[in-house]
Amino acid sequence: MPTPSNRISGIVPSGKDGWEVHFTAWSRKQAGEDIIMLSVGDHDFHTPSETVEACVNAVRAGHHHYTQLPGIPALRAAMAKLSTRCTGVETAPDEVIATPGGQAALYAAVQGTIDHGEHAIVVAPYYATYPGTFRAAGADFTVVETRAEHGFQPDAAAIENAVTPKTRAILINSPNNPTGAVYTRKSLEAIADVCRRHDLWLLSDEVYWTLGGGEHVSPRALPGMAERTLVINSMSKSHGMTGWRIGWLTGPRPFISLLISLNLVSTYGMPDFISRAAVEALENDYGIAEIAERYAARRTMFLDAIRGMNDVVVRGSEGGMYVMLDISAIEPDDEKFAWAFLEAEKVGVMPGSSFGEAAAGHLRISMCQPESVLLEAARRLRHFISMYRREAA
Ligand SMILES: Cc1ncc(COP(=O)(O)O)c(C=O)c1O
Repeated sequence: MPTPSNRISGIVPSGKDGWEVHFTAWSRKQAGEDIIMLSVGDHDFHTPSETVEACVNAVRAGHHHYTQLPGIPALRAAMAKLSTRCTGVETAPDEVIATPGGQAALYAAVQGTIDHGEHAIVVAPYYATYPGTFRAAGADFTVVETRAEHGFQPDAAAIENAVTPKTRAILINSPNNPTGAVYTRKSLEAIADVCRRHDLWLLSDEVYWTLGGGEHVSPRALPGMAERTLVINSMSKSHGMTGWRIGWLTGPRPFISLLISLNLVSTYGMPDFISRAAVEALENDYGIAEIAERYAARRTMFLDAIRGMNDVVVRGSEGGMYVMLDISAIEPDDEKFAWAFLEAEKVGVMPGSSFGEAAAGHLRISMCQPESVLLEAARRLRHFISMYRREAA
């Protein structure tokens, strides 16, 4: 074949991508082995039945056609209302654009703010697609690590040190994947200050905003930030709709209006019947409270089961769908630990280093399994650690 573009070849440079343990565990499970999968962030339950019904009704009612590029008006209105709740800033429908999932909102945010050869700062540990999203824009980026011993809270001084004359944006994510850390108001204020002083965009990935436990603080609400903050939202986590591919981006009106042309040449708008179902789910909060309660209960239960495990330290783990365990006192090589755990106990977890250096020596454990399975995984972890120690001794 003729040569593909450097653009697509460079999005995921060849070689290791950090997901090897997950894909091995997954293939072995598919082949019939009894493996507990705690390596991915997809719900173990279906989308709320009310949302499914709304979609079936929309299909039956003939909503099969092209839609407005930024989203049908009722969808933008419902998304704007939720943005008002999520960010604490009154949001109008023309300040949001519907996208196929949070990932497409991230893509749009990066495409919309950073030109080829310009620079961004990304706070780590981060969601696995972030580097590729910058590479797809031809952008350079600097990773600024948070520290495990600071509960993975970002350090604004370290972020500011990474600012160059070419920097256009900072990307943060709270509640955080993979650490479960929820950034404090103080941390966000300090980052906002850097953005204002250096005239930067703040790309704020808030897809886990309903799973943070306490009050959600969006940097968009901080003084002078609404004009420079782009908030990434999604129905995947909050509404139990990962496979529906629906999310949105919130930002200043003129910016959103420019982004409509990106939809013109990429998605050409959202699917009609999915948009209608999403409107109903958004207007009625289908699933939000139940899903948030479910993950909070699982997290509490799992952390209780981990408590007292020698040399395992819980870091972050305040929100989102994951728990982060520091196992470096047992085995500093988190990948080696994850492989050995899979072999010995048939539990698939993610090595923390897959998410950047800051999470090395950690395991990311997904709470996307019923409580009984999580308890069994905790039991296997306890057993594994005692055996690992004995063998090492
Ligand atoms: C931090 C973060 N941002 C964005 C996404 C993308 O979500 P989606 O495209 O399913 O809406 C995910 C998915 O896991 C995530 O963890």
